[in-house]
Amino acid sequence: MTPASARAEACANIALAKYWGKSPLGNNLTAVPSLSLTLDSLRTRTEVSFDGALREDSVVLNGELLQGKGRERVTALLDLLRALTQDSRRARVQSLNDFPTAAGLASSASGFAALTFAAARALGLSTSREQLTSIARQGSASAGRSLFGGFVELPKEADTATRLAPPEHWPVVMLVAVVAAGPKPIASTGGMIHTALTSPYYPAWLEAAPRVFEEVKQGVLERDFERVALGMEHSTRLMHATMFTSLPPVLYLKGPTVELMHAITARRHAGHPEAYTMDAGPNVKVLTTREHAQETEEFLRGVPGVTQVLRCAPGPDATLLSLEGELKEAQAILDPAV
Ligand code: DP6
Repeated sequence: MTPASARAEACANIALAKYWGKSPLGNNLTAVPSLSLTLDSLRTRTEVSFDGALREDSVVLNGELLQGKGRERVTALLDLLRALTQDSRRARVQSLNDFPTAAGLASSASGFAALTFAAARALGLSTSREQLTSIARQGSASAGRSLFGGFVELPKEADTATRLAPPEHWPVVMLVAVVAAGPKPIASTGGMIHTALTSPYYPAWLEAAPRVFEEVKQGVLERDFERVALGMEHSTRLMHATMFTSLPPVLYLKGPTVELMHAITARRHAGHPEAYTMDAGPNVKVLTTREHAQETEEFLRGVPGVTQVLRCAPGPDATLLSLEGELKEAQAILDPAV
């Protein structure tokens, strides 16, 4: 039997209203609703081949063979698809991020979205994009949101993510200001479970997050920059407050992160359309308008401690890439005479 293969590409996303916390219902359902923006310039390409000759799954990420927990998470996701299709073949997975991994940017969202899409299609599953978000979400909840482009919501305890608005709805820009490289000290899954167990502020977060989510959602629908800016920053601070009030604390923010929070707030008061958000790491993502992006980028490049700035616009849906097209491209490079 010939191997069954497919290749897919998905973009990372940034939450404008944050998810932090698992539902007691299990199955990686989220305890709070979240809303994200898919980012066009942070992409993962993944090829999956199911092959009867393989004895176990092999996973190569950015040229390195994954072992341990990383590989187990991929196998767990592939097992969901194998169970659905009753196909027990093991898979060869090759995945490449086109953004600097040293920048410490989360790649689990784009990674699990591309993996789900490629693996499902390789196995001949013709389930809808929305149904695929349910599978990707079980690998990493934020990955469910990366199957769609534009603005995406994942309601509290929802099985699937849904599109709120397409990328062209609102041409905002997200600038990623890198202040520290390397992997995060505490992975988000463990960090959020620890927070829920030990922070006295966690119940307050569960209570406040749905209201902030509604604010951000209305702001996005109305393209109201100020409303989204205030809601997104509030969501960020509420989430980080639950993190650093846990015991022992989970503190992802660094000195330059806090300096930037002050600077962005002062600049917004002075009339610049800018707002900050941070995830499970110290890098600062700054939301601005397309018209203002150049000025904001220049400002960020001049901030001490900022080592790199990446510019992102609203990104597209995850897509399938043709294996034939890729093969021809590779052959043309190897032998231009063909
Ligand atoms: C801070 O989706 O990485 O980025 O579901 O455990 O894999 P798991 O967590 P993950 O958490 C993302 C948390 C966040 C906020 C967000 O993206 O909503």
